[in-house]
Amino acid sequence: MDRAALLALPRLCALWAALLALFPCGAHGSWMWLGIASFGVPEKLGCANLPLNSRQKELCKRKPYLLPSIREGARLGIQECRSQFRHERWNCEVAAAAGPALGAAPLFGYELSSGTKETAFIYAVMAAGLVHSVTRSCSAGNMTECSCDTTLQSGGSTSEGWHWGGCSDDVQYGMWFSRKFLDLPIRNTTAKDSRVLSAVNLHNNEAGRQAVAKLMSVDCRCHGVSGSCAVKTCWKTMSSFEKIGHLLKDKYENSIQVSDKIKRKMRRKDKDQRKIPIRKEDLLYVNKSPNYCVEDKKLGIPGTQGRECNRTSEGADGCNLLCCGRGYNTHVLRHVERCECKFVWCCYVRCRRCESMTDVHTCK
Ligand SMILES: *[C@@H]1O[C@H](CO)[C@@H](O)[C@H](O)[C@H]1NC(C)=O
Ligand SMILES: *[C@@H]1O[C@H](CO)[C@@H](O)[C@H](O)[C@H]1NC(C)=O
Ligand SMILES: *[C@@H]1O[C@H](CO)[C@@H](O)[C@H](O)[C@H]1NC(C)=O
Repeated sequence: MDRAALLALPRLCALWAALLALFPCGAHGSWMWLGIASFGVPEKLGCANLPLNSRQKELCKRKPYLLPSIREGARLGIQECRSQFRHERWNCEVAAAAGPALGAAPLFGYELSSGTKETAFIYAVMAAGLVHSVTRSCSAGNMTECSCDTTLQSGGSTSEGWHWGGCSDDVQYGMWFSRKFLDLPIRNTTAKDSRVLSAVNLHNNEAGRQAVAKLMSVDCRCHGVSGSCAVKTCWKTMSSFEKIGHLLKDKYENSIQVSDKIKRKMRRKDKDQRKIPIRKEDLLYVNKSPNYCVEDKKLGIPGTQGRECNRTSEGADGCNLLCCGRGYNTHVLRHVERCECKFVWCCYVRCRRCESMTDVHTCK
């Protein structure tokens, strides 16, 4: 797991306070809930005081026991987004909220309303995070309305010497809840843009959930004398959230631009490719992304100045690409560590102090 991502989480709290003041709950209702990641124990605040839209508050009141899973889902999603994009120009990070002028830079402010590929990824990874955390909680026996997948208990293939057992993750309840909690009905406005954007957001939410379902796998354990596999018990399990993040990153890289003119259903923007169907697991976007090179305070884009880059890499983390051709600064970082440690009889360890230097490059 990315340590930097974890360390960045507390910063959300500070942002959150500013955010709440900026957008009264409900206005940006479909993503306000992400802020729950920054509450230690959201149960203590009560549903009414959490950054939720009215539908979500209603759901929260009916099922308050789901709050820890909602928080965990938001945390999973944010952390995975940062980890998947840590080497890219857009690194799923918000503008460093410094000083009163910038204090109100919202969490993913621009990306959540802009209909870009980045918007698509955020929606998908967040919807997936919620499925994952709720399902975990079901399997852990923490919930009365869901548990392990009971449809499997009597099946299996006795002739091949295995049977279903243990606890199979049942994603159905998690999928249901993620839909209920996140999928706002398509806004019935005359403004065409916002209708297309809400349809695209809904699609991407579902694509995220489909990724969790698609990556379900089967784990088995052998029982029998001295490790022989005379009896085998198998159960279905969700993949690690990191794997799901990888799949979604791949979908992001192959995401499809759709036309901003909505017909009966969404269509590819590229006229030559209209015949190729859009699958429910594809990520969709409407607008081209900015290049994320330079800071734009208004859009909450921090730019890549000061980001650490890799001088020898040809990839997105290479100084050339990451710094957008502006060049980079180099400074030397001195490490001091204990080394050449020897055990001395008896009984202590004696070490030398070793110094090493590494070059660190940061974008101009
Ligand atoms: C289940 O509930 C226990 C006790 O409240 C908690 O410690 C644990 O983290 C929960 N597990 C999951 C997966 O939600
Ligand atoms: C949307 O609004 C129009 C006109 O205001 C109305 O006729 C239509 O039934 C509404 N559709 C939905 C799904 O609410
Ligand atoms: C920099 O990139 C090169 C080539 O991709 C890689 O081998 C190396 O480990 C990277 N260095 C760091 C510090 O990430």
